[in-house]
Amino acid sequence: MPMIAALLAVSFYADVLPILERRCLGCHQAGEAAPMALGSFAEARPFAKAMRDAVLSESMPPGGGLAAGEMAVLRQWAARPTAGVGARAAVMPVRPTVRGDLVLQMAEPFRVGAEATVEYQHFVLPTGQKEGRWVQAVEIRPGNRRVVHHAVAFVRTARSEFLRGGRLSVEDEVLGTYLPGEGVLRLPEGLAKWLPAGAEIVLQMHYTSTGQAESDRTEIRLEFGERPRERVYTMSVAEWEFAIPPFAAAHPVEAEFAVQTGVRVLAVTPHLHLRGRSMRVTAGETVVLDVPRYRFDWQLRRVLGKPVELAAGERIRVEATFDNSRNNPRNPDPAATVRWGEQSWQEMMVAFVDVAIPAAWPPTEIYRHKRF
Ligand code: HEC
Repeated sequence: MPMIAALLAVSFYADVLPILERRCLGCHQAGEAAPMALGSFAEARPFAKAMRDAVLSESMPPGGGLAAGEMAVLRQWAARPTAGVGARAAVMPVRPTVRGDLVLQMAEPFRVGAEATVEYQHFVLPTGQKEGRWVQAVEIRPGNRRVVHHAVAFVRTARSEFLRGGRLSVEDEVLGTYLPGEGVLRLPEGLAKWLPAGAEIVLQMHYTSTGQAESDRTEIRLEFGERPRERVYTMSVAEWEFAIPPFAAAHPVEAEFAVQTGVRVLAVTPHLHLRGRSMRVTAGETVVLDVPRYRFDWQLRRVLGKPVELAAGERIRVEATFDNSRNNPRNPDPAATVRWGEQSWQEMMVAFVDVAIPAAWPPTEIYRHKRF
């Protein structure tokens, strides 16, 4: 019987397309981040083996995560790529839209040269808001998806020293991120983010070159909502005082923080640069993120299936390692001693942790006794 099972071919329309619809077409369709569309037999057929290799090596979808059964189907189909009966048009995942109650754009287009570059660029966009606003949804919309590798939008409050020679203040936080295939953050009812009066938005853009001169003018769209029950606040659990020695292959850096009030942990985003190798985040006793092979190419935000409640005094712990060796193909300079900095040849060690707190609180409550 196993012989027969092995010979039973899977077919594109019956077996493969449903997997692509669930897992791939969000990016592999016209106008999205991936270089080729995979929505029909004719489009996918030339990539049968590349698709198999990409899912088996867990390089696709970014971050891996295909079920064993799904991988088996793509493996079998690559061995014998037939169309099967019942040809139909793919159901394309629709990108959610965000009402533009406030739309801010980079003041002018940024030119991305033909030569490869990985430098971060920061653009400060004044919001002009006289009153604070509750933000229900955020969309970062790249002007040119070919060159925008990823983007992070920070809220910078009037007093902050971020990019003025200092660090993020407690009131500053991440508002939203753009990763290929994922540019929209919509919070469920009863939860919202806070945009203080007079704040600015700092767009941190990471561009990659396509080999041709290109330009980009990214915009951010905010949808405002009612006062929620709870505020979603993005904590930065970070360690700034580190020095990664030259040629170190797995240099550990840790950060730990005890919350001063109860919070509910909703999501975690690791942030390391080119030498980042691994990160693990533990909230209380629960491991909420474990990325043993961090890839700078694929930033990610992990939303917890089950939020974790932390009581006052419980800890969030971040353990990261950095690879400053010659074996790290991304390493710009293994001979350097590497410290904290915003540029990609410097390093950052932060876990952005989204927590829910009562809407009436200032986030400083979480840090009450802490010098930040
Ligand atoms: C979040 C967006 C996204 C999703 C989801 C995604 N891809 Fe990709 N894919 C890309 C981008 C961007 C590239 C080109 C850049 C790169 O190779 O990293 C790519 C490249 C590829 C390549 C070219 C070879 C390679 O490995 O680089 C293959 C094959 C591929 N994807 C297959 C798939 C399959 C199969 C799925 C679903 C199981 C999938 N992708 C899901 C964004 C995505």
